[in-house]
Amino acid sequence: MKKVAVIYWSGTGNTEEMAKAVAEGAKNDQTEVSLLSVSEATADTVKNADAIALGCPSMGAEVLEESEMEPFVASIESLVSGKSLALFGSYGWGNGEWMQDWSARMSEHGASLVAEGLIVMNNPDDSALEECKALGRKLNG
Ligand SMILES: Cc1cc2nc3c(=O)[nH]c(=O)nc-3n(C[C@H](O)[C@H](O)[C@H](O)COP(=O)(O)O)c2cc1C
Repeated sequence: MKKVAVIYWSGTGNTEEMAKAVAEGAKNDQTEVSLLSVSEATADTVKNADAIALGCPSMGAEVLEESEMEPFVASIESLVSGKSLALFGSYGWGNGEWMQDWSARMSEHGASLVAEGLIVMNNPDDSALEECKALGRKLNG
């Protein structure tokens, strides 16, 4: 079985809803998907996965959430080289800069981004959730 891990941080649930849809999209007969909040994930989660999706909203001033997500991302940078990776997250009012910076950062560490980072303003509507599922399917590509 192929292993996909979907790991996210979410303060008010928007990115969590996206994460659930990404996980649903990634599921198929040949793929085992785990959906974890970042506090439940470890470096081993990433090491043992064939493909991963990471989700985090834009926080601070266009940065990753700083107490849990940022340290986690820093801790796995050395593990993502050659790995299929999808990034996603919700935002409120900005221009998506946090996602551009995050994408560039993961690419610099050798991750193979399966798509452009998926950003959704505030709460994902049905069409946004479909995009999340499509992103999940790409992890099986
Ligand atoms: C402390 C804080 C900082 C934020 N900073 C930004 C920001 O810089 N740019 C932006 O577009 N949205 C910003 N937002 C809005 C969140 O990204 C937005 O509310 C998002 O939907 C939250 O996702 P969540 O429900 O997964 O926590 C911020 C929200 C909070 C609470």
